[in-house]
This record gives sequence, structure tokens and C-alpha cells, in this order.
Amino acid sequence: MKFLIINGPNLNLLGIREPKIYGSNTYQDLVEYVSDFCAQRGVETEFVQSNHEGDLVDAIQKAYFDKVDGIIINPAAYTHTSVALLDALKSVQIPTVEVHISKVEEREEFRQVSYLRPACIRTITGHGFAGYSMAAVALMDHLSGR
Ligand code: DQA
Repeated sequence: MKFLIINGPNLNLLGIREPKIYGSNTYQDLVEYVSDFCAQRGVETEFVQSNHEGDLVDAIQKAYFDKVDGIIINPAAYTHTSVALLDALKSVQIPTVEVHISKVEEREEFRQVSYLRPACIRTITGHGFAGYSMAAVALMDHLSGR
């Protein structure tokens, strides 16, 4: 089984950006945590982080041709704006879980809308990096019909 983990804009600055909201661990720490968690369960991982919307669309499209089994996506700010990412997920029909490190529902009004949510099997918010491992488990359960 192979999962693609996509992180959107400014998540490369984890550890630097607003540590009170996003914590003090870095993007590299996140990659190590999620890849180890998945490897221990026999799941291969690939990671993409970009600050550019089109790169994220390209990564979703590539996942189709690479026969990726599941996608974990933190679209970051594009969550609240991107029809292009919604359409990309709808196009490839790969089971996807949306993750947010912070509890978006308790933050600003403009963070209350997720354009991607309708294309996702689950949305996980407010669990920090653990949200990504919860997403991996949700995908494993979904793919094994549990
Ligand atoms: C975020 C929440 C978004 O509103 C924000 O724009 C981000 C990160 C999160 O992980 O909590 O960049 O997706």
C-alpha cells in the first residue's frame, strides 16, 4: 500500500511559524513521524510540500498515474479558497483524508469553510501531528473495508 502526504503553503515553516498554534516541531520532524508510523504498518509513503497551488494539483494528478492508494492532505490556506484542489481530488477518486494541525473550527470565520472536504472521506482537526497518523489509520481501515 502506498500513501501520498501533501502539505500546502507555509507548512515548510513548521517550528518557526506561530508555534503557539502549530507547535515547535519542524516539517522534517513531521515527515519522519508519519513515514515511521506508516512503515511500521507496511505502508509506503511519499511526501510533497509546496507553496504553489498548481504544484499541489500536479501532485494529486500524478498520484493517479503512480497508482497511489490513499492521500493525506493538509491544504493549509488553500483549504479555504481552492476549487482547483477540490476538482483535482474529485478527478482522481483516490480515498483522501483532510488534516489540519490546529482546531480550525475554533479559529477565524474565514477558516470555517473547507472547499476540499466534500471530496474527502474524513476531516481531522486539532490533533497536531497525531492527526496525520489518525488519517493514515482511517485510510488503512477504509482500504481494507473495515
Ligand atoms: C492549517 C489551518 C489553515 O487554516 C492554515 O491556513 C494553515 C494550516 C492547519 O494545519 O491547522 O496553514 O491547515
